[in-house]
Amino acid sequence: MSAMPEDSKHALPPEEQRRLVDDDRRYVWHPFTQHSLWNQVDPLVIVAGDREYVIDSEGNRYIDGHSSLWCNLHGHRRPEIDAAIQAQLGRIAHSTQLGLASPPAIELAKRLVDIAPPGLAKVFYSDDGSTSVEVACKMAFAYWQHRGEPQRDRFIALRNAYHGDTIGSVSVGGIDLFHRVYAPLLFKTEFAPSPYCYRCPLGKKPETCGLACADEVGRLLDQHRGRIAAVIVEPLVQAAAGMITAPPGHLARVRKLCDTYKTLLIADEVATGFGRTGVMFACTREKVSPDLMCLSKGLTGGYLPLAATLATDEIYHAFLGPIDSGRTLYHGHTFTGNPLGCAAALASLDIFEQDRVIERLPAKIEIISSHLARLANHRHVGNVRQCGMMAGIELVKDKATGEPYAYGQQVGAQVCLHARRHGVILRPLADTVVIMPPLCTSDENLNHLMIAVERCIEEVIPRLGASVPDGLE
Ligand SMILES: Cc1ncc(COP(=O)(O)O)c(C=O)c1O
Repeated sequence: MSAMPEDSKHALPPEEQRRLVDDDRRYVWHPFTQHSLWNQVDPLVIVAGDREYVIDSEGNRYIDGHSSLWCNLHGHRRPEIDAAIQAQLGRIAHSTQLGLASPPAIELAKRLVDIAPPGLAKVFYSDDGSTSVEVACKMAFAYWQHRGEPQRDRFIALRNAYHGDTIGSVSVGGIDLFHRVYAPLLFKTEFAPSPYCYRCPLGKKPETCGLACADEVGRLLDQHRGRIAAVIVEPLVQAAAGMITAPPGHLARVRKLCDTYKTLLIADEVATGFGRTGVMFACTREKVSPDLMCLSKGLTGGYLPLAATLATDEIYHAFLGPIDSGRTLYHGHTFTGNPLGCAAALASLDIFEQDRVIERLPAKIEIISSHLARLANHRHVGNVRQCGMMAGIELVKDKATGEPYAYGQQVGAQVCLHARRHGVILRPLADTVVIMPPLCTSDENLNHLMIAVERCIEEVIPRLGASVPDGLE
């Protein structure tokens, strides 16, 4: 297998390709990127997309193995979504939600409430996953202020959690590598263990642990009784931590504990929402209704930046009162509820219905599972994890002991860089290779993707330590 040179109509003249790469180096600061390394390899410049493919400036097409960072659901240049955005452009590109309303935002709010877990009744729009979490945390905090319990001034989150990059969402984040430098800026959060069975932080065996990691949430709720504004979790999968899949029952147990200690549960479904776990929202797998739910990424089918925080009526009502009551939610972004984004989201929800997307997922999930079953035995693979269309393949130095590679070796990054030669775009989380293709990916391409990962592991790992890292030749 190799990258498929085609789509020459998208190929740019060589001098234009060079200019773009040079100007990227000169002017662009990329997210989550160590630029001292970035500058050693020419970046792939993506100029077009087509279904589950992205196409680079040389006209090569690649399977979009991470859905353009966990967003794209129904493919790139999906005619129905393109048409919905164009139709909305024919009316208006943007109007504000501050003091005005707009049809796409109204229709979308109604549709989201219809499909959300029971009890979620109001939709507050923002722009991206981080802001949806920021809003949820502010709502939870202010809710208790308005209810006359101002001492509830802290949150419980899970170690390894990732909820975004704004300071509020970093405050409930548990990935030291990303978050420790901001520690002095953050609000109070208590951390419970990550449900990471492969490296259980409590040293338990999954078969006999009795969900001890979830019970630690209860221990913290007890220790800080009456002080917790909300518990925040990524339901079923701690995605950015390396697709860490929680053991069954973990989410339901946390919900129960929140009920027992009468605190709020925030479900951050930014990564897991919209079919990724095989159902529309991960919470429904464990019949859990959160008090607040955060959505983004797949909300617009992965087309445009839009987010939503869904809240119960009970939370919403706590914010009602006379104008001078101090209960107004003073939060809102310029592009909150942008009509183009809402129009794309409505078209995406239509596709879910028309194409029976959720009904078709089990067969695709099975293809990924069958390859993972083989990869689990691979000598360089310590652990494979899957929840629906989200999967992680954790590469380790020593299969017997689970000893990881040194971070500086960038093994996951090298394997993913090499995947481009097999016509696949991937991005790792440390040494976990992440598989999260668009939900529309054909069976043939799912097989190609999974076989490519295996070949990359075979082709890259034996060469580790060679003086020239892959991609630099
Ligand atoms: C669970 C979760 N929450 C929040 C975010 C942040 O979303 P954004 O990057 O759109 O701000 C992410 C991003 O990966 C995520 O996975």
